[in-house]
Amino acid sequence: NTGDLKVPTKPDRVISRHIYGHFAEHLGRSIYGGFYVGEGNTKIPNTNGVRNDVVEALKRLNIPNLRWPGGCFADTYHWMHGIGAKEERPTIVNAWWGGVTEDNSFGTHDFLNMCELLGTKPYLAGNVGSGSVQELMDWVQYVNFDGKSPMSNLRRKNGRSEPWEVLYWGVGNEPWGCGGNMTPEYYADLYKQHATYLGKGYLDKGIVRIASGPASDDYNWTEVLMKKIPLSLMEGYALHHYAVTDWENKGPSTTFSEQQYFGTMKRALLMDELIQKHGAIMDKYDPEKKVALVVDEWGGWYEVEPGTNPGFLYQQNTMRDAMIAGTTLNIFNNHSDRVRMANLAQTVNVLQAVILTDEEKMILTPTYHVMEMYKVHQDANWLPLTIKSEAYTVGNENLPAVSGSASKDKNGLTHISLTNIDPNQAQEITINIDGTKYKNLSGRVLTSKKLQDYNTFDKPNTIKPENFKGAKLKGNTLTVKLPPFSVVMLELK
Ligand code: AHR
Repeated sequence: NTGDLKVPTKPDRVISRHIYGHFAEHLGRSIYGGFYVGEGNTKIPNTNGVRNDVVEALKRLNIPNLRWPGGCFADTYHWMHGIGAKEERPTIVNAWWGGVTEDNSFGTHDFLNMCELLGTKPYLAGNVGSGSVQELMDWVQYVNFDGKSPMSNLRRKNGRSEPWEVLYWGVGNEPWGCGGNMTPEYYADLYKQHATYLGKGYLDKGIVRIASGPASDDYNWTEVLMKKIPLSLMEGYALHHYAVTDWENKGPSTTFSEQQYFGTMKRALLMDELIQKHGAIMDKYDPEKKVALVVDEWGGWYEVEPGTNPGFLYQQNTMRDAMIAGTTLNIFNNHSDRVRMANLAQTVNVLQAVILTDEEKMILTPTYHVMEMYKVHQDANWLPLTIKSEAYTVGNENLPAVSGSASKDKNGLTHISLTNIDPNQAQEITINIDGTKYKNLSGRVLTSKKLQDYNTFDKPNTIKPENFKGAKLKGNTLTVKLPPFSVVMLELK
């Protein structure tokens, strides 16, 4: 394996911190039990009902933005149900996720105040599937308007005087599926209608209107939307891609075979091609890359843990998930000219979560640790790192074993993140550094004994980052020996 790292004196591209965003849907135990335990009858320490342990853990990740309330739930959600006195809020059925009763005790104020607690930017997904343009306009006015108006007056009556200034707005979610089973042509028209009024009065404040994009490789969706929606109406364009090989048979989260692991990694690495191909279509209509590609759902998706509600999407998180996270974040960093925002699905207790909870207990998953190791890339200058990798082979199929990305932060520290997805062999890589001389080198590594290892409530620290001693710097040559299935973060100065 060989690599070339270029360190220009004046780097010209920043890796947006918003690539490291998260997602919290009203789904299973994501909000209720995960983020929120309510203010009443609980022994779990909380601030206005939000778990203190979860807030502290997420603050250590510097999470830049949080998407809410869905997902599919967003297109069934009427925000007015979630404001005012909690005991008077209507209960609804969470039709997409387990058909459970949603009591709306966690609503707009609860979410936006929680974002303040987390020091993160809210990203609200508006209801297009079963809502109206008026409903979305009212929501924007409710959360953002400073002066007197019906909605801002109502907000004040509900206990919040100053606006929250929500900048990120999704216009529906997956309109090709749970968001209304629409054609791209029909959604493009609806998008323009919603975006027109969503922007009114808030464009100069920097509002970011995000159109719902395709699932994985539906390039026609991108072609139609980019053609029909003027650039003046769209600041972001979403893409959803899960590392799933077979939707009918997603396989177990922990007892997977090497063949299943290979399949997952193949789908995860497809992200690179998806960004390139959707990006090429976007380039035709938006050559200056004004519209951000927002990968606002990504991650691994397996069968739920045995004995749990199939509609709750609760799954464990192994070193396989760490490999998905490490490789995907490298891909995002390397496409950060177009990918300027992304959201891992999802934060707590759902899909590829960074945190799992069980009543008062909380654990950090391997994915959490990758996010924590990679936070050094947030808002740092991107450095081009090209890698020629050996193959990781299963049967007659190959994947590149090693991937990486690099950046230089405001304090002049260079970080190189490297992944070796090969579960059987260490991989040594020699990187030639061009443009600067480094004196000091340190590193951290995330790996384990077995690829299928995971943290449990009884053994929460089976997988955690350790100091890494496998890298050497001699002049301009950096040599790194990556253990099998490992994520490594190097720091050079
Ligand atoms: O993240 C779970 C679901 O996956 C989301 O609700 C939906 O947008 C996607 O299909």
